[in-house]
Amino acid sequence: MFAKEDSGVAADIGHINTKSTVTGYVKEQLDEALKGSEIVLIPAGVPRKPGMTRDDLFNTNASIVRDLAKGVAASAPEANVLIIANPVNSTVPITAEVFKAANVYNPKRLFGVTTLDVVRASRFISQHKNTDPADENITVIGGHSGATIVPLLSQSGYTLEGADLDSFVNRVQFGGDEVVKAKDGTGSATLSMAMAGARFAESLLKAAQGTKGVIEPTFVDSPLFKSEGLDFFASKVELGPNGVEKILEVGPITPKEQEMLETCKADLKKNIAKGKVAP
Ligand code: 2OP
Repeated sequence: MFAKEDSGVAADIGHINTKSTVTGYVKEQLDEALKGSEIVLIPAGVPRKPGMTRDDLFNTNASIVRDLAKGVAASAPEANVLIIANPVNSTVPITAEVFKAANVYNPKRLFGVTTLDVVRASRFISQHKNTDPADENITVIGGHSGATIVPLLSQSGYTLEGADLDSFVNRVQFGGDEVVKAKDGTGSATLSMAMAGARFAESLLKAAQGTKGVIEPTFVDSPLFKSEGLDFFASKVELGPNGVEKILEVGPITPKEQEMLETCKADLKKNIAKGKVAP
């Protein structure tokens, strides 16, 4: 792990009851921290303040992610790289470009973590339908920002209509803003995001150790809409020992979901293009 200027984060994580060795590093020890890593999770960067979109973080976070990606390309080029740092729709393409420039790009090992969107969708539908959120697993595709987040309720057999559907979709797309507003200038989601990041990393570890059929939605280098100029897209992905095992098709969706998908694609295309030219 990579702690900031002291070993506080390492001491904190070191109290978790797992069979593990926890080591903190300072910024200047990036190469040492990364060497031999199999999974590198990047949550670095600044969070949003009320009124900001994730894209507003681009100017600050793009160079932070770029520099960390350069470190990974140099010291752990075969690692699975999990990007949480926002705007994910652009920071994933930035990382891909850095890896390409270093001739170490493996599209099967680069992931934008969109798990929190699924976690939120599952929680929100359970509040609406009075079900156990642990039993819900709503498919969410697209990207990780506003209208690029497309929940596919119909694939879980739900048929919300009108205002009910609109308010559910809006809450999933802008769930992050709800937290930013509630934190009132002191940050964005950290704890639900930590849970979501841990869930994704754990799935990846399980798949790496041979468990079959591990499927998580994630923002990856994807063939699904490449012909329309979208090199990256979040959909359900089967994970395996090599990272991405299989990218699943979007599957049947309703006309309303198709409409959301078209809006998503237009925004996502711009976010990806911005990331590609950044490094
Ligand atoms: C969120 O969705 C921080 O992007 C994060 O809340």
